[in-house]
Amino acid sequence: MARITAGIATSHVPAIGAAFDQGRDQDEYWAPVFAGYDWVKEFQRREDPDVVILCYNDHASAMMLDVVPTFALGMAEEFDVADEGWGRRPVPQVIGDPVLAAHLAEQLVIDEFDLTLMNALEVDHGCTVPLSLMFGRREEWPVRVIPLAVNVTQFPTPSGERCWRLGEAIRDAVESYPAGLNVQIWGTGGMSHQLQGERAGLINPEFDNAFLDKLSDRADELRKITRLDYLREAGTEGIELIMWLIMRGALGDKVEELHRFYHVPASNTAVGHIVLRPQG
Ligand code: DHB
Ligand code: FE
Repeated sequence: MARITAGIATSHVPAIGAAFDQGRDQDEYWAPVFAGYDWVKEFQRREDPDVVILCYNDHASAMMLDVVPTFALGMAEEFDVADEGWGRRPVPQVIGDPVLAAHLAEQLVIDEFDLTLMNALEVDHGCTVPLSLMFGRREEWPVRVIPLAVNVTQFPTPSGERCWRLGEAIRDAVESYPAGLNVQIWGTGGMSHQLQGERAGLINPEFDNAFLDKLSDRADELRKITRLDYLREAGTEGIELIMWLIMRGALGDKVEELHRFYHVPASNTAVGHIVLRPQG
């Protein structure tokens, strides 16, 4: 039987990808950010996961405003790395798992999550920056990846509570898959940031640290955070934290926190990262 063995959340700042690609990761500004991910690289060497269900958001890289799916599941054999205006990142192609993805799609639709099935999808920094942070520089990514893109670009975005329940349904779907796979679930985006408007540059460490504190055993409080709360407290792009709730919802009631990192700022963003292990 397949099992979710860990849940990982991280910010996905595009400038981290650029610093990494251009070999600036040991610059004074960037070194503390990358150091925050040394632990997880070692963890991944030990864990050797087979598949990552990677919950992220597209930033109008693959999905422009003509089509805005709420939840879009990557069904393809592989996913091209998007060109986001600076050229394609020089990172490996992202390899999918179409058989597990088809199983997830079927089970999630049975569970009343009417997904958009993406038989072709380019993945942007929401996917590729976390892959670089978790696995470093590689010729090939050491895992298969099933991308799950969530709409946070156009109202109405799904609620945190809806995301949590999607996570629960993903866990049930994984556990009903007969192959003995080691599956991780990741949520990327956040933490507090706002990229435009009068409050551009907003960062709220108090909100972010409370979110990190509550994620393990007071997550019920996080499920109640409304979209307006995210906007007020964590800025316009703070809504990206709902992807963390899909991850957390997929881990069940009890989790153990294995690692945590928080750093301000990277580009315009508060960088947060946490590694959780489901218990039982
Ligand atoms: C930044 C952060 C993001 O999460 C993003 O998607 C784009 C930009 C930033 O801090 O610049
Ligand atoms: Fe983002």
